[in-house]
Amino acid sequence: MIKHKHQIIIVGAGIAGLSAALEAAQAGNDVAVVSKVTPLHSHSVAAQGGTAAALGNMEPDSWEWHFYDTVKGSDFLGDQDAQALFCKEAIETAYFLEHIGVPFSRGENGRILQRHFGGHYSEFGKGPYIKRSCLAADRIGQAILYTLWGQCLRLQVKFYKEFLVTHILLQDEGCSGVIAWDIVRGEMHIFQGKLTLLATGGCARLFKISTNSSINTGDGMGMVLAAGLPLEDMEFIQFHPTGLYPWGFLISEGVRGEGGYLLNQDGERFMKIYAPAKLELAPRDVVSRAIQGEIRAGRGIRGKPYVYLDITHLEDQLIREKLPQIRQMVLKFAGIDPKKQPIPVAPTAHYTMGGIPININCEVLADGKKTIVPRLFAAGECACVSIHGANRLGTNSTMECAVFGRRAGKYMAKIAKKVNFLPLPQGQIKERLGEINTLLNRTPKTSLAEVREALEEGMTKNCGILRDESSLKNQLELIHQLKTAYQEIGLKGMPKEYNLALQEVLELKHMLNLSEAIVRCALARKESRGAHYRNDFPHRDDKNWLKHTLVFIEDEKYKLDYKPVVITRFEPEERQF
Ligand code: FUM
Repeated sequence: MIKHKHQIIIVGAGIAGLSAALEAAQAGNDVAVVSKVTPLHSHSVAAQGGTAAALGNMEPDSWEWHFYDTVKGSDFLGDQDAQALFCKEAIETAYFLEHIGVPFSRGENGRILQRHFGGHYSEFGKGPYIKRSCLAADRIGQAILYTLWGQCLRLQVKFYKEFLVTHILLQDEGCSGVIAWDIVRGEMHIFQGKLTLLATGGCARLFKISTNSSINTGDGMGMVLAAGLPLEDMEFIQFHPTGLYPWGFLISEGVRGEGGYLLNQDGERFMKIYAPAKLELAPRDVVSRAIQGEIRAGRGIRGKPYVYLDITHLEDQLIREKLPQIRQMVLKFAGIDPKKQPIPVAPTAHYTMGGIPININCEVLADGKKTIVPRLFAAGECACVSIHGANRLGTNSTMECAVFGRRAGKYMAKIAKKVNFLPLPQGQIKERLGEINTLLNRTPKTSLAEVREALEEGMTKNCGILRDESSLKNQLELIHQLKTAYQEIGLKGMPKEYNLALQEVLELKHMLNLSEAIVRCALARKESRGAHYRNDFPHRDDKNWLKHTLVFIEDEKYKLDYKPVVITRFEPEERQF
């Protein structure tokens, strides 16, 4: 067992983790980032279309319009204190990113170029679409992540790459660090920190068709749930409308932002039925359900489960300059030149709106409400502050990672000065090591791949864009069967070094627990709101369900609790687009 000691431990090297690392290191702290992959492979790198901030570079804009859109986009389930703070700080954060060197695309006046995205409008939703998403062609994630990485290296942040964090070390006084498995060398490591931040990303890899990379197994959320702490609003999983059919790879909403149309097999722009005013740039939950509606009505292309995204009318130069990566991907995978032929698309699991409940300083909330877990923080997609409520607006996520990652880093830097290291809980460490040894010594009776595949297929089929009591109950039963099967997965005879099967078994445990949390929250919420659509309860029900769900495990049983939504300015209204 190898021990490391750093003032601040950050788990995850995406935009949230690196933003926090940069701020904490800038304030003079000794910061370590522990990442499951080489940092530049963190899933943030896959973000395409842009990052939201009401800069008003292309036309007048205001943070208050952005605030209203975010509230309405969230189907009124977001907490408005956090949403207002986010929309204000997004502006300063975009300039911060510019100043540290993010290579944004530029307009003729030299300012950051911005584009249209779904759900972003002017004049408190009454005006036309607004260009609010700051772009770097169609690779904003790469532009931000690479820049943050360079800045972190400059400040001598220490990186531990290809280390799978398996447990958070929690005791009454708070978090004293994490346990991690060195994937390459096959060794257990302890990272002791005064403060620990989880920035481990989302869990949309629980679904078979997903934009997410294979690493997005929800490890941080899973560790929190396993530690008896709550998760918030887990029933709200976002399905991005346009995944490249049949794989589900992300085709940015920026494509529609630049003028792309959605067409059914009759060549009709069907969004005029579902969202007559905002068409293809209605929020994602609306567009995804519309596509699903066309497919169910037999109007998918040649009766198949996809529709067309058409950009053949756009100028070739625009496609090459503003959507180069997407053009390449469509050419390579589908063999289609999008200037000449429409792109086959279908909804794909994309984003986890819920997560680890935190306050605006990114402190983890022990009861999901007010009480904090000392020394434990979370930021980015694994956390729920809650800005996105029941449905996130496109390009609010990379900005959330930057805004709240920075907030976490600055706040931890202040606290780190005032506290000492906690002693490590030796009993817990021994127990966790025992768990890994059990797996490595167990003779396999069940196939790891079969359990994982069955889980992902079931989640897409039973807990997808449209759900109902019967599909959710089927999924719950399947999860219980798969949990039994999980006990028979073993790795006997395998080496410890570079044992990716061990990594997958450890991830699968979280995936099973998180799936059960999602399904239980979805079963309980008897209404439709944002991305959670129940065929058997098709309307929003503010009287009974204008509240956040909290789910936790106590004595091996799942329990649910609820807390009110913070409404400071915009009262819930009917959403029409
Ligand atoms: O469509 C996109 O480019 C994705 C952006 C986002 O999820 O924010």
